[in-house]
Amino acid sequence: MKSNWSVVVAALAALCAVASFPQQSNAQLTRDSLAQTPPMGWNSWNKFACNVSEDLIKSVADSMASNGMKEAGYQYVVIDDCWQISRDENGNIIADPQRFASGIKALADYVHSKGLKFGLYSDAGSKTCQGRPGSQGHEFQDALQYARWGVDYLKYDWCNTETRNAQEAYSTMSRALLDTARPIVFSMCEWGTAKPWLWGKGIGNLWRTTGDISDKWSSMKKWPDGSCCEYGMVDILDQQVGLESFAGPGHWNDPDMLEVGNGGMSTPEYRAHFSFWALLAAPLMAGNDVRSMSPETKEILTNTEVIAINQDKIGREGHRVKKDGELEVWSKTLADGSRAVILFNRGTSEAEVKVAWEDIGYPAHLSAKVRDLWAHKDLGASTGSFSAKVTSHSVVMVKIAP
Ligand code: GLA
Repeated sequence: MKSNWSVVVAALAALCAVASFPQQSNAQLTRDSLAQTPPMGWNSWNKFACNVSEDLIKSVADSMASNGMKEAGYQYVVIDDCWQISRDENGNIIADPQRFASGIKALADYVHSKGLKFGLYSDAGSKTCQGRPGSQGHEFQDALQYARWGVDYLKYDWCNTETRNAQEAYSTMSRALLDTARPIVFSMCEWGTAKPWLWGKGIGNLWRTTGDISDKWSSMKKWPDGSCCEYGMVDILDQQVGLESFAGPGHWNDPDMLEVGNGGMSTPEYRAHFSFWALLAAPLMAGNDVRSMSPETKEILTNTEVIAINQDKIGREGHRVKKDGELEVWSKTLADGSRAVILFNRGTSEAEVKVAWEDIGYPAHLSAKVRDLWAHKDLGASTGSFSAKVTSHSVVMVKIAP
């Protein structure tokens, strides 16, 4: 028979569990049940790097809640590297007390009060890429801390992992997060080195497929240590070819965060960037200063017709269906059988780009309605093919619906 004490202890433990995770009675939480459509949000790294603070995060959350981004579907506000500074004598992770004076729990509460979700960053190695404490050997302790703080999303990097096996490392943290019973989206940032698309389903909700994006149309700059690379937008795009069969609800290829609005590309180039990320069913994580966007940037990031392509519930990743020198056609199959199609011109002068119905799996005799998703205009019905003039370094993006 149980002693009175053990009954009291068991009752208290049950109460604590309920009190810390009131909405999570579900012991069956599975990885793939999260991120049923590609996650949308904002991440601090591309624009702010290590210059993160609670003031920044609060003002970003304020803006996202009032500038149309939240309504357009952006949810997660994610602090990337540099929020953490050390561990205490018990190994608990400590946030930088200068930059996050009120603590991470208060910040997560603030973000939640705006109707948004909150994310953090860590690393599978001993240290993060910026030399802050990593989670290696502290996975379950960190996961519990994140859950107590109210974290909804974890980006998990791959610096300083030495000989660690990627599948083991990411499985361990995935399990630790699930064991908290809090639904925490798990973003694997392994840069594609160990081909995470082959084993990541059920472990991560998204996995980076390449090295870091940079705010350029095209570039392949090596890192200072000689390893490869910091890529331009089209170099990342090219590396997505052939990966489309690995993505689906709960498990997405991640070609890295958006650079839209950061200044290194023209408006048509950013439109192309956003169109492709939408078609690739990529996570749409804005990486600019959303507190002070130009009208052009805002129009790109909140184009709900393009976002609807990204968030289509069947979760098919689009792919390249035709390449003719600098001219390409990409297509994504949507839940209702229609297609989102990108006519792409990488060249330096305007050109006509044509999609034939056979390129997108339709019989040539089919009549289909064509809608321009950037001009927000119905272009009437076409039979057999559709073509449009596409200016240099830009796209025409249409929805083709039989
Ligand atoms: C790596 C990641 C980036 C970013 C930085 C932070 O380079 O790939 O996305 O998180 O680390 O240090």
